Amino acid sequence: MKTLVLVFHPHLEKSRVNRRLMDIAEETGDVTVVDEYAAYPDFRVNVEHEQELLETHDRIVLQFPFYWFSSPALLKQWEDMVLKSGWAYAGGRALEGKEFMLAVSTGSPADSYTHEGSHLRTMEELLFPFAETVRYVHATYLKPFLIQGVATASDEQIDAAVAKYPEALTA
Ligand SMILES: Cc1cc2nc3c(=O)[nH]c(=O)nc-3n(C[C@H](O)[C@H](O)[C@H](O)COP(=O)(O)O)c2cc1C
Repeated sequence: MKTLVLVFHPHLEKSRVNRRLMDIAEETGDVTVVDEYAAYPDFRVNVEHEQELLETHDRIVLQFPFYWFSSPALLKQWEDMVLKSGWAYAGGRALEGKEFMLAVSTGSPADSYTHEGSHLRTMEELLFPFAETVRYVHATYLKPFLIQGVATASDEQIDAAVAKYPEALTA
């Protein structure tokens, strides 16, 4: 199985988690890692290139830090441009049989993403637009890989969470 990790982080130079996730993914066999903000700093996504990347991999991981209860803007731009009618849906089935997994880091802790917690909604609820997009393009939505509470986590806690990434990418 060939895995593609598309990383959407606008400030990787300041990253505590996503940079480490990228590094460990790059050391994992049969995994291709792409820094999408480095590829498209002007948001002019090369649709043909991105579609070819998707076509030539079996599992696609969309990795990003949670920004305003969603993703950084380039991922939305990427979806809007790459998931074309006639290719991904509306007669197109280029992504049928592919697996999609989100890998998301959040500053707030896991217990704040509950109905009783400070953010009122679960991660599953907040990530629903991604799950529904994946279903709409005839692909399979895998359980997200979450690293939560980054704002207050110790280095040891981050180390332990990052170490679980290779298995999540390939299992
Ligand atoms: C613009 C912006 C918006 C953010 N919005 C959220 C948010 O809605 N929920 C949350 O838990 N963390 C939020 N954060 C915190 C980031 O998710 C957190 O810093 C990031 O996941 C850590 O990963 P990194 O070390 O790779 O940057 C936000 C951070 C920024 C800069």
